[in-house]
Parts: sequence; structure tokens; C-alpha cells
Amino acid sequence: MNPYSPQLIDESRQGEALTKNKESLVDSDPNEVLLVSKRSLYIESYGCQMNFSDSEIVASILENEGFTLTQNPKTADIIFINTCSIRENAEQKARARLREFKSYTSRKPGAIIGVLGCMAERLKGKFLEEEKLVDMVVGPDAYRDLPRLLSEIDHGQKAMNVLLSREETYADISPLRFTSNGISAFVSIMRGCDNMCSFCVVPFTRGRERSRDPESIVREVEDLSRQGYKEVTLLGQNVDSYKYDLGESVNLDFADLLERVALVDPEIRVRFSTSHPKDITDKVLHTMARYENICKYIHLPVQSGNSRILEMMNRTYSREWYLSRISAIRRIMPECGISSDFISGFCSETESEHEDTLSLMESVKFDYAFMFKYSERPGTLAAKRYPDDIPEEIKARRLQEIIDLQRKHSFYHLKNQVGQVQKVLIEGRSKKSSLDYSGRNDRNAMVVFPSTQNLSPGMYAWVKIIDCTSATLLGLVQNEF
Ligand code: 5AD
Ligand code: SF4
Repeated sequence: MNPYSPQLIDESRQGEALTKNKESLVDSDPNEVLLVSKRSLYIESYGCQMNFSDSEIVASILENEGFTLTQNPKTADIIFINTCSIRENAEQKARARLREFKSYTSRKPGAIIGVLGCMAERLKGKFLEEEKLVDMVVGPDAYRDLPRLLSEIDHGQKAMNVLLSREETYADISPLRFTSNGISAFVSIMRGCDNMCSFCVVPFTRGRERSRDPESIVREVEDLSRQGYKEVTLLGQNVDSYKYDLGESVNLDFADLLERVALVDPEIRVRFSTSHPKDITDKVLHTMARYENICKYIHLPVQSGNSRILEMMNRTYSREWYLSRISAIRRIMPECGISSDFISGFCSETESEHEDTLSLMESVKFDYAFMFKYSERPGTLAAKRYPDDIPEEIKARRLQEIIDLQRKHSFYHLKNQVGQVQKVLIEGRSKKSSLDYSGRNDRNAMVVFPSTQNLSPGMYAWVKIIDCTSATLLGLVQNEF
């Protein structure tokens, strides 16, 4: 499916943007308005879902200034790359892409390359001074400043804003959902992170944690419902610490917010990411259990199965605590899917500590996992305190053991679902066959089944699961909604 909304190249909407621009720039030369309005913008995003969501904010801010989105970086007037710093290889990928972009813009006088997001925040002026690959550097809390920064560049300067904010949540900006399929949308509910896990660069690149006004979140979900969206994913680095002061000593917590969002439209599925083992409460679990439209799926990163390593990681929970949270999930929602993140070869990890990770995996049996080798990030607590002393080949071998075991567990869960009848939200045609639909069930597993005439993407289908591959459930439609 074309990830770019056709609305973006709709002439009538460009006209709207032009008119708005003319009104807001009454004092300037009308020719300049036209010139600015015709500029095309290409945005490429890397990393976490939050980055993709932020790119929708950026697109919205610049569309309001009259820019139009394009899918072609070779002809774009402005190229933005929204970057991730979480691991060294994510940064290398972005640098390689920037070099490629530079080869396009060097053939196009006046074209601009901007680096946004976590790498911009981490490297700041170094990008402009040393790398000379970009014209502009903009951190995650400075996107409102983009129009001004672009005009600085038009006046011959390089531009940078990497100020972090304690308040910015972009609450009033309605994201331009240019990568969305029109069915699922991300809704950012908070920004930043206060956790300071010792391996993690995010608190340095995304700043202090702050929660977004719940009214604006609910309004955004109401809008999505009116537009026909069927799924929202509430995003935050640690959603369980969502907290909004309603005044008179009343606080709204994540469970309360989840309930408010679930009540907007029973036809809209609600998902969220990411949960933190130290903060996820039984109240959240009971709220999930109470509402049919809150998906029974939790992403609960554990990182390691060994308590000494968890302490060095500053995760603030032990193996036993983590396992007790898993028990609570299974007690309150026996059918809930659970996924996790793992890091292999963290500083000083012994063979038996690595075995603890494997044994924790054995006892939980996650549905799915994201698995990484430890990558030392400059400036983090771990980089300052602990030598990165596990040789690369040992990190890789341990990671492979984690991946192999996870594969077994994912398959185990898929096999257990064979025979069930499940509600699936149809997302589109299957990649392998245009005769099949694909979508996700409640616990986030991909389901593929032959399409029928009276169903289309965005509808729910009841599907009987008849078989599975290593990563996908295969089914047949039972009946339709
Ligand atoms: N090295 C490897 N993996 C990391 N993650 C975060 N920082 C690092 C790092 N320095 C992983 C964690 C986190 C996920 C988003 O990325 O598992 O949960
Ligand atoms: Fe990083 Fe930990 Fe915050 Fe997640 S919770 S973003 S791993 S510091």
C-alpha cells in the first residue's frame, strides 16, 4: 500500500494551505509566498514508533506553512531524516543515508537536508561542523521552530535548535498521518523518560518525562473515530508512569486514561507501548480486562533474567519482581499476549547470568521479542561506570541463543491458537498473495486468510485459525460483522 495519503497531492488541499499562508504572511511579497508554498518535503523516519509519530507532527507543522509532501527524495526541496540513537548501528545507517541524500542535493541548488530526532539531539553542532552532511539540526522538542529555522537557511545560514523542554507535548498539533494505512494510528500520550536505565541514551536525547493533557488525547481519538480509524496505539517511553494533574490534588493515571480512550468508540481497538515492569499496576491490568476493545497484549521489556545485571542496568526491579508481574498478568488476563526486549552481553555478564535470561524466557514463554547485542552509548551511565567487556563474538553467540529460544516460544504460542475463532482487524492484502487478507488478532499475532467479497480493510472478521507458519496464523473467515 502506498504509505503516503493521497490527500497530500490533492490540489484542493494545497490550495487551502496556500490561502492560509497568504493570510498569515500579508506583509510579505506574494511571490515569495508562492515560492515557499511550492516547496516539497520528503521525510524518512527510523527507530521507535515515537519517531514515526513525531514525523507526523513535523509534516503537520510544515503543511500549515504551505509545504507539500513528496515520496521522492531525489526531487525534494527539503529532505528530513528523523533519526534514532539507541544503538551504534542505527546511527551508522542514518549516516549512510545522509551521504546518499547529499549526493541528490549537491545536484539541486538550494535543496536542504535536515537531521531530526535523537541523533540531532545527541550530536548537536557536531553535525554542522564536522560532518558537513546537513544544513539543519533539530531536536525532538524543537519542531515548532522548523519554519523559522528553514527561513534562516534561506538567508544563507546553517540552522540548529536542540533545546529540550519540560513542557512540550505538541498537544494542540493534529498529526498529518502520511504513513498511516487509514486504519491504525499512533497517538503520543507523553514524551521523554526519567528512568535512566544505565545502557540507554533516550533520557539524554528526549529529555524529561512529561504527560500530555488527557482532553487533547481523547479529542484526537474522537477525531480518528470520525475519520474511520479502527485502532489506536498510545505511545510513551514508559506509559505506566503517565500522570496528569487535574487540579485539587486529583491525578489521572495511565489506567484512567486507558479507560477514557477505550470509551471513545467501542469499535476502536486500543493498544499501548511501552510498559515498564516496575510501574505496571494491577489497576491497568483490570482496566484492560474490563474493556473488550483494549487489546490483550503487553510489551514488557525485561532486558535480562539476572538480578545483578538488572541492578547494573538500573532497571529498579529484580528477576523475581518481573516474574511476579507476569503472574499478575496471567492471573487477571489468562489470554494476554506478552512480548519483551532483551540485551545480550551487557557489561560483565557471565555465562551463568546469560543462562538466567534463557531460564526466565523458558518460564515466561514470550509471544514475541526484540533482541539486541549491547551497544555502548556515549554519555550513558553504563558507558561512564562499566567497561564494555564482553567480546563481540560472545555477545553474538548469546544473542543467537536468545533468538533461537524465542523462535521456539513464538511458534509454541501460534500453535496453541490453532482451532480458535478470533476477531481480526483487516489491515490489507497479504504480502504473499493478493487473494488473501492480513490483519492482527487481539494478542497482536498476524493472521492471513482468503479474502471474501463482503470484507475490506478496516473491517473486523471472525476467523477460524486452521494452521500456522513460524510467524503467522492461517485461517478461514467464519462470518462477518
Ligand atoms: N544497546 C542495546 N540495546 C539497547 N536498547 C536500548 N539501549 C540499548 C543499548 N545501548 C534496547 C532495549 C530497549 C529497546 C528499545 O532497545 O532493549 O528496551
Ligand atoms: Fe531507555 Fe529505560 Fe527510558 Fe526505556 S525506560 S527509554 S530503556 S531509560
